[in-house]
Amino acid sequence: MRAVVLDTAVDGDGRYRVDEVAEPVPGPGEVAIRVAYAGVQWGDVLVRGGHLPLPGPGVPGFEAAGRIVAVGEGVARGRVGEEVVALVDGGACAEVVLAPEALALGIGPASLRDAAGPGWAGPTAYDLVEEVGRVREGDRVLVHAAAGGVGTLAVQFARAAGAAEVVGVAGSPERAAYAEGFGYDRVVTRDEFPAVLGDDRFDVVLDPVGGATRTANVALLAPHGRLAVYGNLAAYDPVEISADDLLMQGLSVLAYNSALLSRTHPARLAASARRVLGLLAAGRIRVGLGSELPLDGVGDAVSRLAAGAASPGKTLLRVS
Ligand SMILES: NC(=O)c1ccc[n+]([C@@H]2O[C@H](COP(=O)([O-])OP(=O)(O)OC[C@H]3O[C@@H](n4cnc5c(N)ncnc54)[C@H](OP(=O)(O)O)[C@@H]3O)[C@@H](O)[C@H]2O)c1
Repeated sequence: MRAVVLDTAVDGDGRYRVDEVAEPVPGPGEVAIRVAYAGVQWGDVLVRGGHLPLPGPGVPGFEAAGRIVAVGEGVARGRVGEEVVALVDGGACAEVVLAPEALALGIGPASLRDAAGPGWAGPTAYDLVEEVGRVREGDRVLVHAAAGGVGTLAVQFARAAGAAEVVGVAGSPERAAYAEGFGYDRVVTRDEFPAVLGDDRFDVVLDPVGGATRTANVALLAPHGRLAVYGNLAAYDPVEISADDLLMQGLSVLAYNSALLSRTHPARLAASARRVLGLLAAGRIRVGLGSELPLDGVGDAVSRLAAGAASPGKTLLRVS
């Protein structure tokens, strides 16, 4: 089969090549999916930079939409032929990918292209709002990376949970304008943050950024506020937070890791992903879709994402 192979020893976009590799065979509890669309996301930037390892033969891609073509031991034969989206730990940039049965989710009436939109960002945004940040009626919420996959969904879930105000932070006025279309009350730019927020305080802050932004986020929490940490877009430097300072204001710092959840509690991640697919099919949420590229466009897509130069919305690779 054709697959993208990533060679991290090579520099530039050339490190991605499309090659013939052996088609994977599903093991116990797995399904094989003929991939129609593979989603590009920030995890691909991390893999390219050597921050995340890829299993097996080095085929990237964490999310796929397609049709089940084979099942391993213990999986109902009746699943063959089912259209699914799958959350995987690599391998989606290929004509066939393996997925744990629990994380290959039927798409119902949605098209494969639409169902490919949420990817890992879907359950992540849902869990950040519902489980980690526990956004309640009347809460004020601050969302960093507001124009990204997680941010554009998180604002919609926060609104549905009854948030009184949702403020976003984005990289440029253009990104801010794009994010505003998903329901933010206002979106400020990273240059303006945090000064532009003045004395504003938030009950919930979603932070995939790290570094100085994380320190600023703690200072922006209202009494009893919750900071949900889920990425390090800007910095990996450790951030010091005093437990005593948190105690005085009743603050919480919480973390979310969907990749870990997929290994420890796949059914919980799947339940959130299913809710997102249901809301999408019912037209109650919207996912911004961006460019659609062939399989060999992956190097360019990841470079653009890393450089902040991707067109807004989710980039999909059309595989077959
Ligand atoms: N912990 C988890 O379970 C989990 C799951 C999914 C994603 N994540 C993390 O969530 C983050 C966002 O993922 P995504 O899928 O929403 O993103 P995405 O759609 O791939 O887009 C990238 C986002 O990152 C923002 N960004 C890039 N560099 C930045 C920087 N230096 N400072 C602040 N923002 C920056 C971009 O902002 P502009 O477009 O405005 O420039 C854009 O919103 C990533 O760190 C990803 O690893 C974590």
